[in-house]
Amino acid sequence: MLTKCHYYFYLCRMQGLIADIDLLEEEKNRAKVCDFKTTEDNGIKTNRKLYIESYGCQMNFSDSEIVTSILQKEGFGTTSSAKDADVILINTCSIRKKAEQTVRNRLSYFNGVKKKNPDVTVGVLGCMAERLKAKLLEEEKIVDLVLGPDAYRDLPELVKKAEEGEKGINTFLSREETYADISPVRLNSNGVTAFIAIMRGCDNMCSFCVVPFTRGRERSRSPHSIVKEAKDLFDRGYREVTLLGQNVDSYKWSAEENNKARLNKKENVATVNFANLLEMVAKIDPKLRIRFSTSHPKDITDEVLFTMKTYDNICKYIHLPAQSGNSKVLKLMNRTYDRKWYINRINAIRSILGTSCGISSDIIAGFCTETEEDHQETLTLMDYVKYDFSYTFFYSERPGTLAAKKYEDDIPLEVKKKRLQEIIDKQREISLERNQLDLGKTFEVLIEGKSKRSEEKMQGRNSANKVIVFEGSYPKGSYVNVKVTDCTAATLFGKIV
Ligand code: SAH
Ligand code: SF4
Ligand code: F3S
Repeated sequence: MLTKCHYYFYLCRMQGLIADIDLLEEEKNRAKVCDFKTTEDNGIKTNRKLYIESYGCQMNFSDSEIVTSILQKEGFGTTSSAKDADVILINTCSIRKKAEQTVRNRLSYFNGVKKKNPDVTVGVLGCMAERLKAKLLEEEKIVDLVLGPDAYRDLPELVKKAEEGEKGINTFLSREETYADISPVRLNSNGVTAFIAIMRGCDNMCSFCVVPFTRGRERSRSPHSIVKEAKDLFDRGYREVTLLGQNVDSYKWSAEENNKARLNKKENVATVNFANLLEMVAKIDPKLRIRFSTSHPKDITDEVLFTMKTYDNICKYIHLPAQSGNSKVLKLMNRTYDRKWYINRINAIRSILGTSCGISSDIIAGFCTETEEDHQETLTLMDYVKYDFSYTFFYSERPGTLAAKKYEDDIPLEVKKKRLQEIIDKQREISLERNQLDLGKTFEVLIEGKSKRSEEKMQGRNSANKVIVFEGSYPKGSYVNVKVTDCTAATLFGKIV
């Protein structure tokens, strides 16, 4: 169950990030409904129950589905209440300081649960487990298990030991693990849309980012196992898959070697790239929609854009994080592209896929050395691109990253917040402007369920990832044509034609 998720869920789940949106009350409320997901009560009578609470990005949510699958094989059922659980797992995020604070607060809450039920096993998984390792066991006395993202196969063994009173830790980062053979148990599923992890880790070294340290080296999963998983979902009634990776355009697989760095050193090896993979998944069935996230501006190729154009069922939406509109800041961020390069990629998207292709971004306000003029360049980039949506954050220094080592976090918090507010305001204006362009247009919408605000209404998304709410009663997973009659900055409203 994702606690009362609403429209924002549809926006934030593509990337599944917790934005630093503590500036606006409205945004605050939205953040609350999106900041974690839990297992549901699966109703299966089992002796032991598992409760997982997941934070961070969609990769983490996807990992929780793998973890559930691993423990289900050990006879665990799932529960939506930590109080009923025999094993409580918290799958954590380290991306910003606030994300880690939230986890610390939850651990204090679980402390209360453990006082009432001393036999419960408490485990910390994910990026914070990987970052802090044994320190977590020292600092948080209630924690019995600490497992990093590549160590989940070890869970049954460590849970068993914890039940015998022995604390356990495995934060080994693998160069090969992709969990390709594990069929994830879908959590929080609407039965229509699902996520498929196509790669793990990240080989980029963006100077602000903790992910390469918490998720290890980049490796791509076998395309055959990806196609099999997508086909299986389609056969079970799902109609949309989102291919997930920190940098999907960098996907590169060969039968001989799945570690990207080692593969790049080999010559004359047959490989599958991201455009090839997209095509393989698109061919499963024209009624299966394909989305993907996240694209990196340095890696997105025209070949990918042309493949998107060729297949109607590959959705015309690209999440292409800019981070900043200023070339000096981008260089310090080690993003390896500049403003001109980014604009060139946007122009390629517009010329190959047209103005209706949805584009969204991640933007960081107040990175080290950012001047007022640099910040203005972020705003002018937003004006140029006309993003449909942006995930916006202010810079949060993370221990161990290149930026933390090399640059002073020199922008005062008030200035970061002021700039972030300006970015949020700008985005709201542009989102409304973009949605207004859709008034009077008709779109094919994949129905995902009832509108959360009204029982009489249904909702789904169009190819460009826009949420459309309309009247009617149709089965989930069906496609309908909807004419847009009204809009806000976040949602389109329409009627079936
Ligand atoms: N792999 C994706 C992003 C993963 S992290 C990409 O390269 O685009 C998601 C977003 O969190 C980043 O795009 C960035 O905008 C934000 N982020 C990462 N580290 C951050 C930090 N230290 N402070 C603030 N925001 C950060
Ligand atoms: Fe982090 Fe950069 Fe990798 Fe994205 S591409 S996960 S921002 S290091
Ligand atoms: Fe994702 Fe957070 Fe880890 S954004 S990769 S869960 S640090």
